Amino acid sequence: MAKNLYIETYGCQMNVADSEVVASVLTDKGFKVTNDINTASLILINTCSIRENAEKRIWNRLKAIRHLKKKNKGLIVGLIGCMAERLREEVLEKEQLVDIVVGPDAYRELPLLIDEAESGHKAVNVLLSREETYADISPVRMDQNGVSSFVSIMRGCNNMCAYCVVPYVRGAERSREPESVLREVRQLFESGYREVTLLGQNVDSYRWENNGSLIDFPQLLERVAQVNPLMRVRFSTSHPKDISDDLLMTISRHENICRHIHLPAQSGSTRILKLMNREYTREWYMDRINTIRNIIPGCAVSTDMISGFCTETDEDHQASLSLMEWAGFDFAYMFKYSERPGTKAAKKLKDDVPDDVKTARLNEVISLQNRLSGKSKRNDIGKVFEVLVEGFSKRSGDFLSGRTSQNKIVVFPKENKRKGDYVKVFIERCTSATLIGTIAAY
Ligand code: 5AD
Ligand code: SF4
Repeated sequence: MAKNLYIETYGCQMNVADSEVVASVLTDKGFKVTNDINTASLILINTCSIRENAEKRIWNRLKAIRHLKKKNKGLIVGLIGCMAERLREEVLEKEQLVDIVVGPDAYRELPLLIDEAESGHKAVNVLLSREETYADISPVRMDQNGVSSFVSIMRGCNNMCAYCVVPYVRGAERSREPESVLREVRQLFESGYREVTLLGQNVDSYRWENNGSLIDFPQLLERVAQVNPLMRVRFSTSHPKDISDDLLMTISRHENICRHIHLPAQSGSTRILKLMNREYTREWYMDRINTIRNIIPGCAVSTDMISGFCTETDEDHQASLSLMEWAGFDFAYMFKYSERPGTKAAKKLKDDVPDDVKTARLNEVISLQNRLSGKSKRNDIGKVFEVLVEGFSKRSGDFLSGRTSQNKIVVFPKENKRKGDYVKVFIERCTSATLIGTIAAY
């Protein structure tokens, strides 16, 4: 039977990058990646544990996939990624939903585990590692536009945010050898890519020491930016406690490092930030935003916000709203607090904000952000931005779609331009999600 691999990816960009590593490990062993689940002999679900909702969705998906096993007796189904450690017993033993379970640091073992599953045994490896960075593996790019790609520069996390399950499911922080990062970026450029996003849970704490010399994140970023001025560089995620002036100066020196920083605030209340173990205050966060604006004029800033964390009062909630308004975020990911088993908050704090209050606060946060995002886009009308074209617009083949350095989506009539081009676009109007313009006269 053909060895066809189908991978479905949930969760963050890290997981997208991980699925590409998995595809690489398995194509080396003769698998072919397919987009059609019905032709697969191996289905892998790359999972996310960050909120209960994410887990529920994946759980339902696994149940839906079970019927494929009835049709195709040889089919192997695997659960990989962040849910692996926590739920291995439930999915393997109790519900018999999958044949293999593999954690985020054990992807090199997949071929062995698949062999085991093929001979009828359930196969598990959820061990976390202190060293694994998959540095030598060239990811197989999947479902991408051929223009922008992710490059993982570190794995795991050493911050102990009270709400967060990541350090438990992805292990301790480790940085990837810089030369392997640069090699990957050069290869991407040579294959036509024009944008890379360097990924880590906390990129500001990237460190690589070798023979007494140290490479930190600003240095790595600079080297990546120097691969080619036509290669745009983004990065995610920064931590407000660690983002340094040195990093901001590095961005300001290189036009191809994008003018966008994702700097999750989580809350605007210093009391809540302390309970969250974020290690900064509201004032510290505001100072970082002021410094970004001083050093990098025109830099977009986005955030993550959590509504209804343990003990959050209406006053704390108001503090989050006022911080958002003050910062004028260009974009935000907004969540309702969801208690995760094993975290510091689950062990020490009571999840005491009623669900309807969480929802009402989240709705206020979302409607404020909609207003701020609208304002940020309207502010761009009448200006010219350099857009990297990612492909055709969803609506029409006569229009192209791309992004500004600030990460805003722009749609414009294509004329003679194509994917991978840099185009100066004059912004004429906007919708709630998109800037609309025409090619600017040079
Ligand atoms: N509940 C709600 N949101 C969470 N996040 C992380 N853990 C939780 C949780 N338990 C959010 C944070 C983080 C983003 C990736 O997910 O805002 O920055
Ligand atoms: Fe990404 Fe965290 Fe979800 Fe894992 S748990 S996929 S690290 S968001």
